[in-house]
Amino acid sequence: LNYNVKRDRRFILDILFNGLRRLEYRGYDSAGISIDYSSLDSKGHLSFSAPPLVFRQEGNIDSLVKSVYKDVASKKLNLEEPFLNEFLVVHNGVITNYEVLKETLMRHGFNFESDTDTEVIPKLAKYVFDKATEEGDDQSVTFSQVVLEVMRHLEGAYALIFKSHHYPNELIACKRGSPLLLGVKELSEDMLGGASFLDINFISENGHPKELFLCSDASAIVEHTKKVLVIEDGEVVHLKDGGVSILKFENDKGNCGNALSRPSSVQRALSFLEMEVEQINKGKYEHYMQKEIHEQSESLTTTMRGRLKHGGSTKAKTVLLGGLKDHIRTIRRSRRILFIGCGTSYNAALAARPIIEELSGVPVTMEIASDLVDRQGPIYREDTAVFVSQSGETADTLLALEYALENGALCVGITNTVGSAIARNTHCGIHINAGCEIGVASTKAYTSQIAVMAMLALAIGDDAISSQARREAIIDGLFDLPNKVREVLKLDQEMKDLAKLLISEQSLLVFGRGYNFATALEGALKVKEVSLMHSEGMLAGEMKHGPLALVDENLPIIVIATRDACFSKQQSVIQQLHARKGRLIVVCSKGDAAAVCPGGFSTCRVIEVPQVEDCLQPVVNIIPLQLLAYHLTVLRGYNVDQPRNLAKSVTTQ
Ligand code: G6P
Repeated sequence: LNYNVKRDRRFILDILFNGLRRLEYRGYDSAGISIDYSSLDSKGHLSFSAPPLVFRQEGNIDSLVKSVYKDVASKKLNLEEPFLNEFLVVHNGVITNYEVLKETLMRHGFNFESDTDTEVIPKLAKYVFDKATEEGDDQSVTFSQVVLEVMRHLEGAYALIFKSHHYPNELIACKRGSPLLLGVKELSEDMLGGASFLDINFISENGHPKELFLCSDASAIVEHTKKVLVIEDGEVVHLKDGGVSILKFENDKGNCGNALSRPSSVQRALSFLEMEVEQINKGKYEHYMQKEIHEQSESLTTTMRGRLKHGGSTKAKTVLLGGLKDHIRTIRRSRRILFIGCGTSYNAALAARPIIEELSGVPVTMEIASDLVDRQGPIYREDTAVFVSQSGETADTLLALEYALENGALCVGITNTVGSAIARNTHCGIHINAGCEIGVASTKAYTSQIAVMAMLALAIGDDAISSQARREAIIDGLFDLPNKVREVLKLDQEMKDLAKLLISEQSLLVFGRGYNFATALEGALKVKEVSLMHSEGMLAGEMKHGPLALVDENLPIIVIATRDACFSKQQSVIQQLHARKGRLIVVCSKGDAAAVCPGGFSTCRVIEVPQVEDCLQPVVNIIPLQLLAYHLTVLRGYNVDQPRNLAKSVTTQ
């Protein structure tokens, strides 16, 4: 055994480190890696067995990389160490009943090193294994039976990978609630001429070696393969001696059945990732958030591609949403449409609410996913529940989906992630096609979500002659939207200048109403989540019911006052704020500067944006605020792509 990392092992380590880097955007505070250095002889038989090495490091991936190479190079590895880690587990998710499990395990003599929920899993596996082998030998219980028994005791959401020296050359992965993908890369003959890829040693049935990847997020593996299997809840992936099998254990409750029950083998086709490696690189930009703000013209074009029909001299302009075609009549006839989401996705639905109400005539209610679950709010069979989620994996939204399904509502998913839990578990849906979004603060997904929901409104209202002209105007507006977005992005420098003025402020208010109430909430959310400046979005109609007390000559206030049915009301809001010496920044339609600036330009700063169809205006209006949040963050010296304490995808409650 040679501890100087051999080329092939270094190669595998580099793949793993790189994969971890690709996942950095999701938010984390530490990282770890485990190396199983059991050796195989030339025939692929195990010639050396030892416990895997484990490295864990707080902080970023680079500190982990350094510690791994330092320890490996200095041969600081302790081979004599007793087999402490009989079972190794990688866990994504949260185990909600870990305290009970921990107490039980402690009563059985187990010691714990940490307060984490994850630690109960390998300990539980060892407990299960020891019990099962008490009377027999190691061979009497299979690795998948051990894992199954462990799964039976776990509550919460998880994706798990297990390794154990009791089962050399085997690996088990399973999931419930959290995402898990199996990537498959077929290695061609010429590639095999180089590094000893065979060390990875997965030989497929037809004899072609395969490299297999397990990950929670496609961006970790897309540079290696686009062929994936989306593992489903209750499934157990078993890798053994080069073969892969997927087993499903299920009882009638949808939980994992008894470990001794015979699992059924699952045959499923590989899916093909539509993600490109370039999408997960920053390109010419310094930050992902910056890149994603600036690519919104293109992402919107992709979102709408193939979905808008020009019509012709005789035919009407229409919208085609393939994923909804069998359900649109049911949605149209529903008693109520509920929009359910968290964070930015909730705000996008709020922006689309007025046009959905207008074109469908169906009452629309808004639900923050966690609040709906907390209240167990009434949902009926006649309801349509629309779940909006960029990742399609947000735990709160998933729980709300489970709840709506139980109550018999028609469930529609609007996500940016093919194969995500929300995409899979809803009855029908629309993929927003915005491309991979890496920045924790959502930008291009927000504008694509609004565009998709405007198209949803058009599709639901498609049968009403009375609104045909309105619908056609919106379709024209959608066609032209990418151009208008390109135009508004030219405000970049202006927003940077504004950010310089606001850099040391403690607080910022944003007022909007109607279509742009959402813009106020989302603009303030962007500022607070990345630039760490306190910021609140408020409904302008509520100003006089409290927020007015905050107004003085110091507090900066952004007012959204673009042209729509609420314009004159916003003019009056501006006047009231001005009368109280408010420090005003007004977002208005091109050419309206004088109309919105009552005291003249010395008292008020104006940001002019192109005017579009009223229901699409939130797409244009949010962009200067995204740019402001971005520049404020960079100027204040904070991490734009991974804001403090936040994660891209919140898969825990
Ligand atoms: C997290 C992210 C937000 C996001 C929210 C909902 O809080 O930091 O940017 O808006 O989750 O995520 P989803 O993937 O469901 O849209």
